[in-house]
Amino acid sequence: MMELPFTAPALLAPMEGVTEPCFRDLVLRRNGPQHLGGAFTEFARVSKEALSRKVMRMHLGPNRFPQPVGLQLMGSDVELVARSARTAVEVGAPVLDLNFGCPAKRALRGCAGSALLDDPPKIERLVRACVDAVEGRVPVTAKIRAGGEDDSRLEELARAAENGGAAMLTVHCRTRKEGYRDTADWERLRRAVGAVSIPVCGNGGMERYEDVARMMRETGCRYAMIGRAALGDPWVFSGRTVGRAEAAGFLIEYDAELFERRAMTEKGRVGRVKQLMQYWKAGGLIGDGEREGWLREVERERLMGRLVEVVRAG
Ligand SMILES: Cc1cc2nc3c(=O)[nH]c(=O)nc-3n(C[C@H](O)[C@H](O)[C@H](O)COP(=O)(O)O)c2cc1C
Repeated sequence: MMELPFTAPALLAPMEGVTEPCFRDLVLRRNGPQHLGGAFTEFARVSKEALSRKVMRMHLGPNRFPQPVGLQLMGSDVELVARSARTAVEVGAPVLDLNFGCPAKRALRGCAGSALLDDPPKIERLVRACVDAVEGRVPVTAKIRAGGEDDSRLEELARAAENGGAAMLTVHCRTRKEGYRDTADWERLRRAVGAVSIPVCGNGGMERYEDVARMMRETGCRYAMIGRAALGDPWVFSGRTVGRAEAAGFLIEYDAELFERRAMTEKGRVGRVKQLMQYWKAGGLIGDGEREGWLREVERERLMGRLVEVVRAG
């Protein structure tokens, strides 16, 4: 079986509109390879044609860290996804991940993402086509949800990925129907672990550092992937507690990176920073009842001004 390159069991989840190179690099810089084992790009959608090298390079970003950053593809056309997989490896993706979990309407209309949870044989075909296309150069991994309408086909879905040749199976333990709702049923992760012999990466509902070890202990997962908790606390993988100034500093740096590296507009940057602020917990920066006030800021200057004040106050 293909060896996985992750340096530790905790992984940063792929998140569209968030885990682009700027945010990802800030997180990778703050969590060493002994704590954060790897990350993923946001999904790269394969619809009408195979993806170009340029698009892949943009998703992967220029920086290299000790931890691998897997490139995630989402699509339903076996031929186009497989061709894209080959290109991804040619431009240096160390892991290729396939998305079978996105519940967005656009994905469903294109019969991609979580639409495929109703079609396990198609999942197997897509995984196998990518495994063949990359010719053993990198591991191909698959990310599913526990099911579509319900979790009754979980084992079948897990085995479809395994039979296709996936080197790891990530299971977001919510179904498509459940969306992102609060409860996360880890018993489903145990079921997935029992159904396949490849490593399972558990995902869903981890809120703090300690949850990684707890999920692995309670479910038998070999890896554990954190999504939204990393948006609220980018240090979650190392369990470091930061103060208000350091927390504010992260958001200021994020804004600067988005400007310098992606030339994003002020409005775009405010949107991105406030997206993190919706989840933000680190440093006690946003106290009880204060979130609304931060999220009401529309001017970049005012928002950054408030953050700079926090940094100055130490
Ligand atoms: C804003 C956002 C964007 C996401 N984009 C992706 C994506 O591009 N690919 C993917 O496989 N999952 C995506 N997800 C799902 C996450 O990877 C993860 O499975 C989910 O958030 C559950 O983990 P959590 O409870 O730790 O957040 C996204 C989730 C969020 C909140």
